[in-house]
Amino acid sequence: MEFTIKSGSPEKQRSACVVVGVFDNRKLSLSAELIDRASNGYISEIIRRGDMEGKLGATLLLHNVRGTLADRVLLVGLGKERDFRDKEFRSAIRSAVTLLNETGSYEAVVYLTEEKVKRREVAWRVEHAVVVAMEAVYRFEQMKSEPAEVRRPLRKLTLSVPQRSDLADGETAAARGLAIAHGMDLTRDLGNLPGNICTPKYLGERAQELGREFPDVKVTVMERPEIETLGMGSFLSVTNGSDEAPRFIVMEYEQSARKQKPVVLVGKGITFDTGGISLKPATDMDQMKFDMCGAGSVLGVFRAVAELKAKINLVGLIPTCENMPSGRATKPGDVVKTMSGQTVEVLNTDAEGRLILADALTYAERYEPEVVVDIATLTGAMVIALGHVACGVFSNNDALGRALVAAGDDAYDRAWQLPLWDDYQDGLASNFADFANVAGRAGGSITAACFLSRFAKKFEWAHLDIAGIAWKDGKDKGATGRPVPLLTTWLLAQESSTA
Ligand code: BES
Ligand code: MN
Ligand code: ZN
Repeated sequence: MEFTIKSGSPEKQRSACVVVGVFDNRKLSLSAELIDRASNGYISEIIRRGDMEGKLGATLLLHNVRGTLADRVLLVGLGKERDFRDKEFRSAIRSAVTLLNETGSYEAVVYLTEEKVKRREVAWRVEHAVVVAMEAVYRFEQMKSEPAEVRRPLRKLTLSVPQRSDLADGETAAARGLAIAHGMDLTRDLGNLPGNICTPKYLGERAQELGREFPDVKVTVMERPEIETLGMGSFLSVTNGSDEAPRFIVMEYEQSARKQKPVVLVGKGITFDTGGISLKPATDMDQMKFDMCGAGSVLGVFRAVAELKAKINLVGLIPTCENMPSGRATKPGDVVKTMSGQTVEVLNTDAEGRLILADALTYAERYEPEVVVDIATLTGAMVIALGHVACGVFSNNDALGRALVAAGDDAYDRAWQLPLWDDYQDGLASNFADFANVAGRAGGSITAACFLSRFAKKFEWAHLDIAGIAWKDGKDKGATGRPVPLLTTWLLAQESSTA
């Protein structure tokens, strides 16, 4: 979809549709007011009849409104004016775009971006309108034999800003939003692809494809012999039961104006997690194709950053393999040697994410990174703790943890910090190796983060447990593209603070 920014009166737009807001209870927004005046009170007359109360998300499509130059006027309910905040703004945009995409307009001029949102500037409103619009029209139909054609899909949105002086900020914000949305689309596609297509080899190929599309992204894909030479015994132990070959993907993007140590992103890339010998129950096991969403989000962030030509130094590391049971699979009680030299007793083969991340974190040391952030669908306990709203943040540096939470707030891709106190480390004790890969059930997400922290002692590090937010269950089952907005927002903030 294409986006442009404009400033001007709604009644003067030659367009297939002009979109204006109505507050609860029946209060016209400024742009709805202008249409009302141009049409001699037609809008207020309709509202008086009770067809549009202004409830959040309600829509009413009007045709041939006299006094205007557009084919249609779409009224969108905004809810109570004093409650119009981030969530309400995004939900109004979503309703408008969903309706436009399902009806005849292939383009529209949206005035909702002119409405004031508490604590947010026009740039925020434009960026979020673009991200939400793209989210609303996303479809995953690659695996259907006949894609369900949208009759006249929405192709172009013009977003209106209050003043001509807002145009420049609006355009920058639209480009940012579109890059984030393109990154999310990639992350969603990779997540939604089934495990028999989206294999470690396939992820490596998609990374290389990204490198060809954006020459600023240098991609190296290592295969088993090189992974063995590196001594990644922990990562390789997870691959033992699988007939699919593992990959270790390295992406490098060096565009900072100054010589600067890179930020390293590490993404969990388990393309299917059966649990291994500690086999998972059958119910909902299909959802374990999403266990590579951390890896997918790293690819998505690279896409966003490269499209924007952000002036930062970024490295992406993706250990990727399947976790399968077999006669050769790792068994509970096996002891493996990590690249760091530390030994691990694998008490549960289903706690495999931390085993592949451990070696990737050790590999990150060679970049002498400014900071390392890993992104992983790591624990079911995370879903219990924070549900599907926020991901968990764990960090050995409190300021870093707070910065990620703040970026999540700006991006409406929320995160919440949990503790990483030493008191939680004790559960990992082992009688047979340096430590075990699991502690008890209590505080499962925290003890998983504690395990990772043992491989992140040489740098500032944060861990995002995205188990609850990376995909949706139910009738809208599918990957969400999170936390691409959070991570991109965080990285772009560093660009401005170091420029
Ligand atoms: N990929 C799973 C985590 C997961 C489970 C994410 C369900 C989303 C929904 C991970 O590899 C796993 O199996 N973790 C175990 C750890 C346990 C054995 C300590 C878990 O959470 O049950
Ligand atoms: Mn598992
Ligand atoms: Zn897993």
